[in-house]
Amino acid sequence: MTLEEKVGKTLDELGVSDAASVEALFNEVRARMLEELDSFKRLGGRTPVWKPDVSRPESSPYRPGTTPDNQGPTFQFPSTRLRVKWLGRKSGILSSIDEHWLKPAPKHLKPIVGRAFNRLRQEAAVEILGEAAVAEGQAPSTTAPDLTLPGYRRPLGSIHPVMRVQREIEDIFLGLGFSIETGPEIESVYYNFDALNIPESHPARDDFDTIYVDAQTVLRTHTSPVQMRAMEKYGAPLYIIAPGKCYRRDNPDSTHSPMFHQIEGLAIDTDITFADLKGTLDFFAKKFFGEKVRTSFHPSFFPFTEPSGEVAVSCFACDGQGCRVCKQSGWIELGGCGMVHSEVLRHGGIDPDRYSGWAFGLGTDRFTMIKYDIPDIQLFFQGDVRFLEQF
Ligand code: PHE
Repeated sequence: MTLEEKVGKTLDELGVSDAASVEALFNEVRARMLEELDSFKRLGGRTPVWKPDVSRPESSPYRPGTTPDNQGPTFQFPSTRLRVKWLGRKSGILSSIDEHWLKPAPKHLKPIVGRAFNRLRQEAAVEILGEAAVAEGQAPSTTAPDLTLPGYRRPLGSIHPVMRVQREIEDIFLGLGFSIETGPEIESVYYNFDALNIPESHPARDDFDTIYVDAQTVLRTHTSPVQMRAMEKYGAPLYIIAPGKCYRRDNPDSTHSPMFHQIEGLAIDTDITFADLKGTLDFFAKKFFGEKVRTSFHPSFFPFTEPSGEVAVSCFACDGQGCRVCKQSGWIELGGCGMVHSEVLRHGGIDPDRYSGWAFGLGTDRFTMIKYDIPDIQLFFQGDVRFLEQF
């Protein structure tokens, strides 16, 4: 006979008629309760279990929303099951004992059954209710909180080093009267390539290989498409910088990342010359790296500028003597630049006979690595707090 069956019968029916057998019977119940409590603890009382809705046979615990109240299957903590089984008012084991053993007990056994029952009830309350409170995250009510414990320390976040440098660069150009413009990272092939004078067959597309979202959409390979968007939006004259993320098919190593940051600069007005570009970048480099640095420009090629150049700055660490920072060359490359190609101005709806302009693109990650002497670009994107909390 199972315990559940036993508690449904009277003592008389069970053939229990003296104090010793009453005690033995209660010991059996008690042992069973502790056993169940023990296996509940071993199984980890915190794991919720599905309780399928049995009132509607067609409802499935795997199909939410099939219970009559349309709330899907509920889940219970095992501690709840334990509590209902032992202490439930209607059909809990203790209620059954009260109903079938205690109440109809013969007179001479009543005090003995009553005492044994009370002991069991007290023990069940402590073991099952105390345990349930812990499992469901409430401390048992007998334990007052210890007010002498220290509070939780919630560490503050900090600005990412690349964003810190981006803001610093933005501040310098804001001071020169430029405004900040942004564009989408998921960009059309037209803005990323065609409008910038890089037609489909042009080999320069190889240098800017990237992920194609579809035939007409790419993850932008540079911030230069913002040039075109700004020209269309505002026309000339125009003085903007455009910071943001870019993507290229680069294998990650200590100086390359398939996702990186650039800052684009663009100035369009009447009578803008290469001298304005040199003057602006020289001013910027002195503000960012220190008054001592000199800039140097040498020829390069970009389809969207003509003429095109690369700008370098004398090493701020060794003043051009050659050191670890500048890899012994005395110079640090900052990025590409040039006079905006007349075709590009035309694509942007600006008359190249009336206006001219310059543009540059700087690598923000590189600036940050140089500024903080960081040896590996990957450190920026790994999210390691031990690295990030140093800034
Ligand atoms: N977009 C170029 C690059 O990513 C940089 C550049 C910008 C060059 C503007 C010239 C003018 O390499």
